[in-house]
Amino acid sequence: MNIKNNYSLKNYNSFGVEAYSRYFSYIGSNDEIKALLEWHNQSELPLLLLGGGSNVLFKQDYQGMTAVIATKGIEVIDEDQYYTYVKVAAGENWHQLVRWSVNNGYGGIENLSLIPGTVGAAPIQNIGAYGVELADCFHELEAIDIASGTVSLFDQKACQFGYRDSYFKSSAFGNFLIQSVTLKFAKQPHWIMDYVGVKACLSGQPITSKRISDCIIQLRQSKLPDPLAIGNAGSFFKNPILSSNEWHQLKRQHPKVSAYPQAGGAIKVSAAWLIDHCGWKGKRFGDAGVYEKHALVLVNHGKATGESLWTLATQIIESVEGQFSITLEAEPRLIG
Ligand code: FAD
Ligand code: EPU
Repeated sequence: MNIKNNYSLKNYNSFGVEAYSRYFSYIGSNDEIKALLEWHNQSELPLLLLGGGSNVLFKQDYQGMTAVIATKGIEVIDEDQYYTYVKVAAGENWHQLVRWSVNNGYGGIENLSLIPGTVGAAPIQNIGAYGVELADCFHELEAIDIASGTVSLFDQKACQFGYRDSYFKSSAFGNFLIQSVTLKFAKQPHWIMDYVGVKACLSGQPITSKRISDCIIQLRQSKLPDPLAIGNAGSFFKNPILSSNEWHQLKRQHPKVSAYPQAGGAIKVSAAWLIDHCGWKGKRFGDAGVYEKHALVLVNHGKATGESLWTLATQIIESVEGQFSITLEAEPRLIG
């Protein structure tokens, strides 16, 4: 394991903000994972695991070890009448896995095309887009308890997946290193194509998982900034979930608010709509701004600091609270 001192993380977070880590390591094998955990337990310094750094905001430097998990491997391990099971190492790129799956005729994750980051981070917030979540095709994952080194398997129930949430993002936050994820691809894929843009793109042509993936890529590129061109972490806030009473009250005052019914009567309200309605879209303060095409995306126009992006985020939270009495919650992990 190669350890670097006082290392810049600018190229390891999709916001592209400058932050230094006291120690840094790039982990390419399971042996290096073992060595990392031994080092961590001996040093007693905090450990930050990173995949693609596309869901983090560094508000400050990190006074511990930052380890980028870059292990590789995609393997078909089993199949039965209904599913093909594919085990994937944590460091594989998520979007490349999606393209591998559609090119090999495995359907199920095509709607999750072009989500940045790694396979190992996908269960952390149960990545989701266009009506599909990781949970829909998840079989199990292998995780190492960072304190004891014990390796365990977690099935769907143990992962406690929710909307942008899991056991690993909530009650077991920071306790486990996800080593691999096994997905199950249905032999009869159930395609979800009801989003307006997806429907329009597919119209008149035979449907395949690959075509859906191509349409999702087109749609996302028209709405969301490419982190290589402009720093961002996708949606900066989660869409708030309101009770039926709260929703009716909001709807009475703002009949045009965008929202989606959830199981059990709750309503998921569009945070983008709330922020847009407060006038934030396209606003810029130095290099920290709100994307001009999507109010839910904070962007780094060049040299924004994590602190300045967070200051903007807190101003947005306050303004939405003031106008709608709804408290937005950040989606990315805040560091520092
Ligand atoms: P990182 O940012 O590196 O880490 C995120 C969290 O996971 C951190 O807490 C980290 O410590 C932890 N972690 C990382 N790897 C491991 C591991 N192996 N074991 C344990 N913990 C680990 N998300 C969606 O859900 N839907 C979207 O549509 C979507 N669109 C996006 C669009 C853009 C342009 C961007 C920039 C982001 C988008 N995201 C979206 C957010 C992001 O891509 C996902 O959250 C992704 O899963 C993060 O992966 P990562 O490897 O970059 O994780
Ligand atoms: N809208 C506005 N103003 C804007 C943008 C959108 O009012 O500037 C309204 C529109 O009414 C639109 C609605 O917001 O219909 C929803 O917008 P969009 O379809 O872009 O979805 P979203 O709720 O903003 C969520 C996820 C995305 C995911 C898309 C597609 C969250 C926090 N975000 O965005 O995930 O890709 O749906 O399913 O749930 C991410 O998590 O990082 C992410 C990008």
